Amino acid sequence: MKMAWVDGVDQVLVVNLHGSLRVVQGVCSHEYFELDKGFLTGDTLTCALHLSRFDLESGEPLDPPADEPLEVYPVSVEDGQVIIEYPD
Ligand code: FES
Repeated sequence: MKMAWVDGVDQVLVVNLHGSLRVVQGVCSHEYFELDKGFLTGDTLTCALHLSRFDLESGEPLDPPADEPLEVYPVSVEDGQVIIEYPD
């Protein structure tokens, strides 16, 4: 997992999931906590602060206390560059 910055402001988390990239918002949907401090558990991301797990395909929370999904952003690799589709 690696945190990236969009325009130096917004954080997104880039996850290499078994060789396939996923990109989600970089901060937990529960409280302000950077998700690169969390850990991967199978196909899910666990926030290290209160241990909510998130589905990395849908962003949906799988355990409380988080009850809001993470934003998930389309990602592709072109000519060795990671391209993230981030809304304006
Ligand atoms: S801050 Fe992530 S679960 Fe609470």
